[in-house]
Amino acid sequence: SPASTAQADRYSWHLDAAVAFDIDGVLVRGKRALDEGRRALKMLSGDNALNKRIPFVLMTNGGGVSEAAKAADISQLLGVEIDARQVVLSHSPMQALAARYSDDHVLVVGGVGHRCADIARAYGFRNVSTPNDVVAWRPSAWPFMRPPEGGQLSDPDRKRDYARDPFRAVMVLHDSFDFGRDLQIVTDVLRSRDATLGAEFVNKQSAPLYLSNADLIFSNDYPQPRFGQGAFHVCLRAMWDALTRGAPLEHTCFGKPFAVQYDFAERLLDQLALRAVPSTDMDQLCNRRRVYAIGDNPAADIAGANGAGWTSVLVRTGVFNGEPGTNDPANPATMVVDHVEDAVSWIVATEL
Ligand code: G3P
Ligand code: MG
Repeated sequence: SPASTAQADRYSWHLDAAVAFDIDGVLVRGKRALDEGRRALKMLSGDNALNKRIPFVLMTNGGGVSEAAKAADISQLLGVEIDARQVVLSHSPMQALAARYSDDHVLVVGGVGHRCADIARAYGFRNVSTPNDVVAWRPSAWPFMRPPEGGQLSDPDRKRDYARDPFRAVMVLHDSFDFGRDLQIVTDVLRSRDATLGAEFVNKQSAPLYLSNADLIFSNDYPQPRFGQGAFHVCLRAMWDALTRGAPLEHTCFGKPFAVQYDFAERLLDQLALRAVPSTDMDQLCNRRRVYAIGDNPAADIAGANGAGWTSVLVRTGVFNGEPGTNDPANPATMVVDHVEDAVSWIVATEL
């Protein structure tokens, strides 16, 4: 709100530090915001022992929406104004691929309806289809669903004959909302001659595969962790191996814990610092800036932060369920705390 912006403007910036918040299992669980999350974000607006604002980004392996929609959603849930330029979704860095595939036909997988196709178009991919479009073209491609109607297609104005419209890449942007259909159509594209649907199966990979989020599990408001996009990858690899008897399935991963995500987040933090204090000497700042990541998933948030040379803080409100006082043995965090508010208090105390 304008009031909270005015409030924040009273404070100067502490640019020597920056914070990357994970979302699920840290700030929210399912659709429910954690009170500690509300207070933690408020502290970064200057309401802390430093009496200064600390720049932050939200860095989630979630997606399936635009960065602007996610920013609006979290702003509303947590009562703190968040800009789209502070949001790193699992698929955000995939926009760099649009330079390579701008006019190439790409299969976009995941999410509900054609939202992920729309996201891909907004990133600059001009020629996208979805598994749903393929089933509309030929319902026998996946006979276990009612064929989609015109309004459900990703581009109702574009009539395609997939037998004459080969794919150049497959991009999984978000969780599959229909594992069976998506496993069928993705393996079809990847092992058909020239990645042309309906052509003979050649059992070697015909197109590159890009994946946006390797999380096997994530935390929502269910008492136990739920399947993440990584669960779809496990099924895809198993089907690929069973169908092709061992041809390697090559793929490129985005999302935490991969370095591409941390480079992207650091560039957002650079731009944030420049907007906050236009006279900032970026070379100097990058050398001295300490970035803290707060996360609940050791395999994603902590492994990635440690690999990027950031300081990692593990919370106990999500995937991690070790006994109090313990750390994750495989990916130990710099610090383990109960929740995100304690994490920010520790960061501020460290910066004092
Ligand atoms: O589907 C989202 C999940 O895999 C992780 O979200 O915010 O905990 O990185 P987050
Ligand atoms: Mg999480």
